[in-house]
Amino acid sequence: MAGEGSRRWTRVLVGVLSGVLLLCGGGVALGTWAWTGTVVDTTGKVDFVHRLAVPPLAESRIDAQGRRVFDLRAQTGGRDLGQGGQTRTWGYNGDYLGPTLRAKRGEKVLVNVVNGLDRPTSVHWHGMHLPAVMDGGPHQMVRPGATWSPHWTVDQPAATLWYHPHPHGETEQHVYRGLAGMFILDDEPSAALALPRRYGVDDIPVIVQDRRFDSDGQFDDGRSLLGGVGILGDTLLVNGTVGPYLDVSTERVRLRLLNGSNARSYDFGFADGRGFALIGTDGGLLASPHQTGRIRLSPGERAEIVVTMRPAERVVLRSYPPNAGVDFFSSRFSGGDDSFDVLELRAAGELAPTPEVPARLVPIDRLDPATAATTRRFQLSDRKINGRAMDPGRIDFAVTRDTTEIWEIAKQDGTPHNLHVHDVQFQVLSVDGREPPPELRGWKDTVLVTANRPIRIIARFADYADPNIPYMFHCHLLYHEDQGMMGQFVVVEPGQSPGRPPAHSGHG
Ligand code: C2O
Ligand code: CU
Repeated sequence: MAGEGSRRWTRVLVGVLSGVLLLCGGGVALGTWAWTGTVVDTTGKVDFVHRLAVPPLAESRIDAQGRRVFDLRAQTGGRDLGQGGQTRTWGYNGDYLGPTLRAKRGEKVLVNVVNGLDRPTSVHWHGMHLPAVMDGGPHQMVRPGATWSPHWTVDQPAATLWYHPHPHGETEQHVYRGLAGMFILDDEPSAALALPRRYGVDDIPVIVQDRRFDSDGQFDDGRSLLGGVGILGDTLLVNGTVGPYLDVSTERVRLRLLNGSNARSYDFGFADGRGFALIGTDGGLLASPHQTGRIRLSPGERAEIVVTMRPAERVVLRSYPPNAGVDFFSSRFSGGDDSFDVLELRAAGELAPTPEVPARLVPIDRLDPATAATTRRFQLSDRKINGRAMDPGRIDFAVTRDTTEIWEIAKQDGTPHNLHVHDVQFQVLSVDGREPPPELRGWKDTVLVTANRPIRIIARFADYADPNIPYMFHCHLLYHEDQGMMGQFVVVEPGQSPGRPPAHSGHG
């Protein structure tokens, strides 16, 4: 522990010194060292020696009311992450991350969430459309030893969603230690498509997270000083595996990419430059596949891709320096110049044939801006939204049930931000006044916001009115969220006024 502390202080000190020197133009050598030493580049340097762990599918049972029941227990554990011993971790039903929950559209689900930790936590169903009281945000805390059993009906298209804690002010820490998991939704239209769909065989969850280790092999949660984005790691874990490889046995493999990192954005592509089919984004499949070589994901975003393999070859999934829409200087200190080798795909000598990706996937009805009841503007800066920091006791605005709204999101400061909205999947209407690029034409719940390029999104708030229990909207860089770059809205019946969030600390 002493080692952890002093190493952090050394880094802080070095950061402060080099920052100061850099700014006064003195100490060129140290300044240069800070400038170049901060870049992480693991390309060509990762030993892919561990078979990629695939989170197990969560077991479930059907209860007397016909609900599919899952059990999740948040607990502490330890895992060998190649640091010469056990790294202390948190996980659901295991040491690190959690099982993959899976349900079909139309099904009723219930999850028994048991808090086996020594402090309050919560579980938020990121991307799920459900009543606010079931959402698992900061108003649905689970005390140590307690069980919380949210239930809802799955009523949205097939998608790759996820779950993670959402305690007020502590989400960064809870997620960093390992609490997160995937939640896959299925539906009939997607099941009718000739897409790879055998979980763990040709349909693979790829949860990408960066971590940093201290000299004792424990997670180092020191924040990068100059970047202002929170914790940036220099080691990637994929599904909790360091140096992962995946044995591929089919001509095509579907990867469900989830950026489960606290602060880092990635720009995924393959080391040999091959293209792939982007078939889905946060909230479901696209209308048609988008052939591309890169997909950028900011924290919380997902993408489903299908990559084609030749027998006996190996290819590395890489992350290239992501353009997070900030200036040269900020980019350097917020991971914008970093590159990683992520996962090696190893094809078998003979590959089972897979049909081509269908040219058409699912219909996506465009929401019509002319039907919008309101346009709201959100300015992200300085870890606040519209100049206000999150207050759990304050409802920022009310949306009327069964209406459509346009939200215009902009940012001016030099730090990367994105915006995640609970309750709905939205569509992007425009980016800086222009048609959105193909990767932003499907359903989204989280979107990167770049400086001076306002994004207009549109969403329909169809149901689940509750004047007292708010949904969150926030930057998904977890440090920013914890710092207060978050707000709360309620969905009300026509004519109804917003109420008050229940008075509880959320830390009880
Ligand atoms: Cu993924 Cu409000 O969170
Ligand atoms: Cu932010």
